[in-house]
Amino acid sequence: MIRDASSPVPSLGKDLLGLEPLSTDQIQLILDTAEPFKEVSERAIKKVPTLRGKTIVNLFYEASTRTRIAFEFAEKRLSADTVNIAAAGSSVEKGESLVDTARNLEAMRIDMVVVRHPSSGAAAFLADRIASNVINAGDGWHEHPTQGLLDLLTIRDKFGRIDGLKVCICGDILHSRVARSNIWGLLKLGAAVAVCGPRSLLPRGIEELGVQVFGRPEEAIEWADVLNVLRLQLERMQGGYIPSLGEFYRVFGITQERLDRAPRDLLILHPGPMNRGVEIDSRVADGPHSVILQQVTNGIAVRMAVLYLLAGGTPERADVSKGEG
Ligand code: CP
Repeated sequence: MIRDASSPVPSLGKDLLGLEPLSTDQIQLILDTAEPFKEVSERAIKKVPTLRGKTIVNLFYEASTRTRIAFEFAEKRLSADTVNIAAAGSSVEKGESLVDTARNLEAMRIDMVVVRHPSSGAAAFLADRIASNVINAGDGWHEHPTQGLLDLLTIRDKFGRIDGLKVCICGDILHSRVARSNIWGLLKLGAAVAVCGPRSLLPRGIEELGVQVFGRPEEAIEWADVLNVLRLQLERMQGGYIPSLGEFYRVFGITQERLDRAPRDLLILHPGPMNRGVEIDSRVADGPHSVILQQVTNGIAVRMAVLYLLAGGTPERADVSKGEG
């Protein structure tokens, strides 16, 4: 569903902290605004002057390939000035706090901070304490809103809608900020949502969010139009959540053999990075129904849209026809 152009345009406010606080209209606004930005990345000269003069800091306290680089590409393609700061090699190693780091950056007259942090709530904590726009690039187990948005855009690209689709999120739901952003976004846009994984990797009370729970991937595959397969977050696991990786793959792995028994072709998403042969079979990840690399491509357009809207842009003025020579 595309947002009704005659309805008043909602604003995103100062920050993007998650999909839970956003309205259906705000989520649709971001997805619709991403559409014209897709084409910028297909040009020989991948640049528009939209955010010329803005300074954006990418502040990453955790490892990232896709999110950090997609934000950086999005910023550069919008002509913003960007600086990347990783915790390693910065004064964070000397004990400087998140807020002190951000306030020092603000003293250098920045406009936006994109932050990834291992603690849930870190982005909101920062947003309450600095004047710059804050974008959550993943905070602990809480939310990863731009990943949720790019997943929604990729599903909408394939089906032309989100409303009425059945989407099952598979694997390690407990430790996953991607699962939480997907659940909020999908439910707000009218999808039916399920989760599938071992009980030890499902948050207690997950059903109360309005999602169905499957204990076996065969049931999920029978039910769903879309599977979003999540990585086993081994770095977040302190103890024995699963007997072994081999056992997890045998019982919960999304394999070609399991998909061959599906009543329909299922769209396959994975936010990356993938553990091939753990949560997903390579034949599925690289197969004809996988949109894993389209997700990565859409990640740039979605982040361009978020940056543009937080900078005060409106969809009517998202004129990307003027490139930069
Ligand atoms: N999907 C995702 O967040 O990947 P990165 O950790 O590489 O950014």
